[in-house]
Amino acid sequence: MLLKSNMSSPGTISVLLFAFCMLLVQCLAGRDFYRILGVPKNANVNQIKKAYRNLAKSLHPDKNLGDDLATEKFQDLGAAYEVLSDAEKRKIYDKHGEEGLKDGVGRHDPFSSFFGDFFQGGRPDEHDVPRGATIKMNLEVTLEELYNGDFVEVARHKPVFRQTRGTRRCNCRQEMQTIQMGPGRFQMTQREVCDECPAVTLVTEEKLLEIEVETGMAPGQEVTFIGEGEPHMDGEPGDLVFKIIQQPHKVFERRGDDLYTNVTISLQQALTGFEMDIKHLDGHLVHVTRDKVTWPGARIRKKDEGMIHYDNNNLRGTLYITFDVEFPKGELSNADKETLKDMLKQMSEPKSYNGLRGY
Ligand SMILES: *[C@@H]1O[C@H](CO)[C@@H](O)[C@H](O)[C@H]1NC(C)=O
Repeated sequence: MLLKSNMSSPGTISVLLFAFCMLLVQCLAGRDFYRILGVPKNANVNQIKKAYRNLAKSLHPDKNLGDDLATEKFQDLGAAYEVLSDAEKRKIYDKHGEEGLKDGVGRHDPFSSFFGDFFQGGRPDEHDVPRGATIKMNLEVTLEELYNGDFVEVARHKPVFRQTRGTRRCNCRQEMQTIQMGPGRFQMTQREVCDECPAVTLVTEEKLLEIEVETGMAPGQEVTFIGEGEPHMDGEPGDLVFKIIQQPHKVFERRGDDLYTNVTISLQQALTGFEMDIKHLDGHLVHVTRDKVTWPGARIRKKDEGMIHYDNNNLRGTLYITFDVEFPKGELSNADKETLKDMLKQMSEPKSYNGLRGY
């Protein structure tokens, strides 16, 4: 009785109504794809891809067996990526929320994403399935791309088998057969048994593959797209593997995570010191100042100005700068020569033979 009167009080009703409305709004508003991916509203496509790629690894249901919601979270992630990586869908989503996307999203399966290499070694057990050949390709990238990270689009003209009319023999195998030759006489023979499969024809499909050149990748490192290799009529296609080839760079030479560069200064700068900026691979300037005398071949180290470490993007190698000294051409006046001698106070007699040890 008490409960009933309580329930019908105007205050409670409005609270209930309010809660109901909130629920409705929440359902209508749909999921917050930006929050799911953990990116700001103005994130660019590369940020979205990167966030997706990292989350897909950590949220994968196989890695979260204890979590009942793992599959759901993974699907939310797939849906978020499907919408935000597509300029059209993203525009609609930004205006009208998930509800605005009438076709609905949520069935997107991150397994079939363009990052074929997400779950390496994750191929289901399928030892017996014949597989097409694996294709290996070289992917030439610049040092800038390896420093900053980039997405490279590659158009793949891929032959695929499509069903056509008619049938063909398939899944052929050897089977033992026992034939009765006469009373009490049997013979075992081997014969080929085949199934009837629909006939297939090869058609060429164009597919855009997006290869992520990750920050700090080493030359020779490989990016694998599972199932994008040669097709197989009775089985699965092989893989497509891209091998990173680093193009030579005009300014920097890479050795592991360290960078090397050469700088030519004038004799005047070598003696009196100098200040300069070296433009790095992402455009930032590395400032170099020197007050001491710099001799030809001198090398200075700039810690943490090398390449970015692949496994830990917070770590960097060292930049080594080697100096060459350009001497002035021509001849000095006698007065200048005297001034220089006074200033440098170096030995005026050449030290014969001391630098030519062994001769
Ligand atoms: C710097 O100079 C040395 C010696 O001439 C050369 O071997 C090296 O390749 C040069 N490095 C760069 C980055 O130009």
